[in-house]
Amino acid sequence: MPTLIEEATRRRTFAIISHPDAGKTTITEKLLLYANAISLAGSVKARKAARHAISDWMQMERERGISITSSVLQFEHLGSAINLVDTPGHADFSADTYRTLAAVDSALMVMDHSKGVEPRTRKLFEVCRLRRLPVVTFMNKLDRHGLEPLALVDDVAATLDLRIAPLNWPVGMGRDFRGVVELATGTLHLYATGEHHGQQQAEAAQLPWASDEAEEAVGAAMHAHVSEELELLAEAGDGWDPDAYMSGDLSPLFWGSAMTNFGVEPLLGFISRHMAPPAPREPEEGRAVSPADDRFTGMVFKIQANMNPRHRDRVAFVRVVSGHFERGMDVRIGRTGEKIRLSNPHSFMAQDRELVTGAWPGDIVGVHDSGNLRVGDTLAGGEPLRYTGIPQFAPEHFGQMRLKDPLKRKSLDAGVEQLSQEGVVQVFYRGIKERQDPYLGVVGLLQFEVLKERLKNEYSVQADLVSLPFKHARWVGGDPAGVAWLRGRSDYVHVIDRFERTVVLAEREWSFNYALEHAPGLELYDIEPLD
Ligand code: G4P
Repeated sequence: MPTLIEEATRRRTFAIISHPDAGKTTITEKLLLYANAISLAGSVKARKAARHAISDWMQMERERGISITSSVLQFEHLGSAINLVDTPGHADFSADTYRTLAAVDSALMVMDHSKGVEPRTRKLFEVCRLRRLPVVTFMNKLDRHGLEPLALVDDVAATLDLRIAPLNWPVGMGRDFRGVVELATGTLHLYATGEHHGQQQAEAAQLPWASDEAEEAVGAAMHAHVSEELELLAEAGDGWDPDAYMSGDLSPLFWGSAMTNFGVEPLLGFISRHMAPPAPREPEEGRAVSPADDRFTGMVFKIQANMNPRHRDRVAFVRVVSGHFERGMDVRIGRTGEKIRLSNPHSFMAQDRELVTGAWPGDIVGVHDSGNLRVGDTLAGGEPLRYTGIPQFAPEHFGQMRLKDPLKRKSLDAGVEQLSQEGVVQVFYRGIKERQDPYLGVVGLLQFEVLKERLKNEYSVQADLVSLPFKHARWVGGDPAGVAWLRGRSDYVHVIDRFERTVVLAEREWSFNYALEHAPGLELYDIEPLD
């Protein structure tokens, strides 16, 4: 029987953060390929099929042809149990994308080396920083032309204010791509284009970089150029520092080409051997709880409602924080103290929802929810406990519901209230007493679709959504003089959130910069302050 501490320390629970098209789907699939969790990859057809297998596991999603879930892929490699939690992206980008980052111990940041830091990567990275989450970087698409590597690394470091420690270094790019040099050993991993490239694991020939063979293999001019870059890195670059990685101050960097599989194996090796294992978590009161603590505790980071009207059940995604999770166990909800039994838990692998009997710290299980649970809830055996919750993130789309049948007003209000508590939408009121027709905000437009569907199915409310022109929201804080300045301006739209805190809405982001320049001591937050 494995011990709790052994199982916890071999868990690697992470999510991929990236801008659309950087290669998240491709990398996910290639990690599975290299871990022997899938056998064939690379053909467009297999890739598309895999993409569906990965994200569409609920009937309703398949019916609607969209993916709303964060699914979890669990696989073994080099003795580690890896949980890759899929962050919804593209069209299904939503508040859940951010919340997923509250459930993982590390993030893999994938960038296209011809683009560097793109807006969504940056936003997601900021959420990682907030949690001091360790981040590993993969610079993708080396088989295509990209930015000059040294300048790119400097730019990423400066833009994200993050130390970057390359663990390997590219030799050429695009048509001239020859491979990467592993910095710790000075080994050149040669890139070879083969017949089955991308579909099967790539074999990379290895040579010492400081050798005639290596010089011959990449060409004298390329060898000289890269040697110079390596010298510069040795003198001025950031070296690998495990402690700085664990505290989120330094990101190890790998280069590669996910499409052709090149560079995937070293990345997976790093994930298995060095990626951050489950960390202790802070409750609202008292000492941090270690994963090796015997008592089971877990955190709900997502609730998935089944929108099929015949099945009203919901699945709450629970990240095990400490102790061993057992099927049928009784736990208490930290927020209410209420006792519930976790009777039919399942794990998520591809399309199947398998029943699980047990899970260890770092694992994610889905538990049946009959409406008692909320995003951010803590479940614990024994006495109730509350971990610090998951904040709301500034919405980027706003609207108001317009009833088709005015007699349904009460149902609409009740539905919006309940669904906002579940984290489907955020609600903003125009005054403390003004509770009707609130402004609704979402991070991703799909959340409005979910809201409409659920109002229809669960509350029998038919309503249209009328969009509002705002694109940005900020929670207001800081010096009272600055706050008063803002309050006195009629060109800002002031609303209050569910906790009656002031929020300003704007159509353009520069309005916030203007306010910050003119209001003494004003502070504006794009992530809800948790106090
Ligand atoms: P995403 O999930 O981050 O949005 O990215 P995804 O993996 O879907 O990749 C986006 C596009 O970039 C895909 O091309 C994919 O094949 C390509 N790509 C991913 N990794 C690499 C790489 O290492 N090198 C090159 N050259 N391309 C890469 P697509 O044409 O949009 O899609 P598809 O037709 O291949 O499905």
